[in-house]
Amino acid sequence: MSENCSDRDPALPIRRQVVELGNSLIREIAHEGMSNPDIIPLWFGEPDLPTPDFIIAASDSALRSGKTFYTPNLGIPELRETLSSYMSGLYEHDISLERIVVTAAAMNGMMMTAEALIDPGDNMVAATPVWPNFLRCVEIMDGQISMVPLIANPSGWQLDLDHLFDACDARTRAIYINSPNNPTGWVMDRKQQQQVLDFCRQRGLWVVSDEVYARIIYDQSLAPSFLEIAEPDDLVIVINSFSKSWAMTGWRLGWITCPRGLTPVIEKLNEYNVASPSAPAQYAGVTAVRDGENFVHTMVERYRIARDTIHQRLGSMARVSMPKPHAAFYAFFTVDGMDDSLNFAKWTMRKTKVGLAPGLAFGAGGENYLRICYAKSPEVLGAALDRLAPVLDA
Ligand SMILES: Cc1ncc(COP(=O)(O)O)c(C=O)c1O
Repeated sequence: MSENCSDRDPALPIRRQVVELGNSLIREIAHEGMSNPDIIPLWFGEPDLPTPDFIIAASDSALRSGKTFYTPNLGIPELRETLSSYMSGLYEHDISLERIVVTAAAMNGMMMTAEALIDPGDNMVAATPVWPNFLRCVEIMDGQISMVPLIANPSGWQLDLDHLFDACDARTRAIYINSPNNPTGWVMDRKQQQQVLDFCRQRGLWVVSDEVYARIIYDQSLAPSFLEIAEPDDLVIVINSFSKSWAMTGWRLGWITCPRGLTPVIEKLNEYNVASPSAPAQYAGVTAVRDGENFVHTMVERYRIARDTIHQRLGSMARVSMPKPHAAFYAFFTVDGMDDSLNFAKWTMRKTKVGLAPGLAFGAGGENYLRICYAKSPEVLGAALDRLAPVLDA
């Protein structure tokens, strides 16, 4: 249905799409638990450690040397150059600066992607469960979502590409893939990426690939990226972030890589979204990428230990079934006897003082699951598992 004046409540005449937009169910749990310091909060997806000092120092020195002004809409050239050489090296594929736009975190990149791609009534096909915010961006633009659930099995999650392709119709504009995936830890392999790219090339569809967890992977050195197989002018947009790899969630800094022709479009949109990401954050970003490799590796090793603990201890609890997560820092698990993940997460929080995210928040295929974020210290995780055991291991 397209928007018209009669859709609006005369008392508060705002767009129907915005009125109907769901609230974040993850935030719903967090709102209930945040004011209680006794609760161990494992609902949000963020590293528990603060941004390292060498990154903070770069921002401090930028501020003190007068970097307090607007920057170009596309981001400062130093950061775009740094990201261009970082990604070209990582993926052994030339990724030129003209294809890179610095954004106010992945979230701003997602909103601009939806603004650029989605007309009212357009459809986007998404592999789910998935962190829901890009789906909401598409809905804000009055687009519709078709969700194609991953399939769980003990060794991991799988996507049936026939299901994905069958879900595309004449109104489909884009396929959205988030790999490494939040919440399941699923990683799409190179062969499937190539098949998705080939399909999208044939149909003239966009691939929107959310790769914010590209560096946080345990059983391979690097997650396959669409950037390794896409030609510079393919309709491929890769969304990235400083939040997870460099522990910078609060800085709101990310970037997108897109075909050259889209760069001026995103540049224009950024003027009307945030004008530019924060200047000191961008200087910090240059240092994070140039000098942060050891930090990234250290964090991944820390998460790997946490992943193994969660898989062994939580995965062996009597009521729990959990495919092994291969990447990101979440475990997504079912609980025998649970039929409403939101109510169960609320009840578990009251009973055990551990805050988990309800699977319902992540779309089709997630309803019967709970998500735990394990980017925490061994002490915090151990305490959370001790508290959960009487409920989940009974
Ligand atoms: C899959 C995914 N994409 C994007 C984001 C948002 O990242 P940012 O903090 O850069 O907005 C998140 C945050 O949890 C995420 O899980």
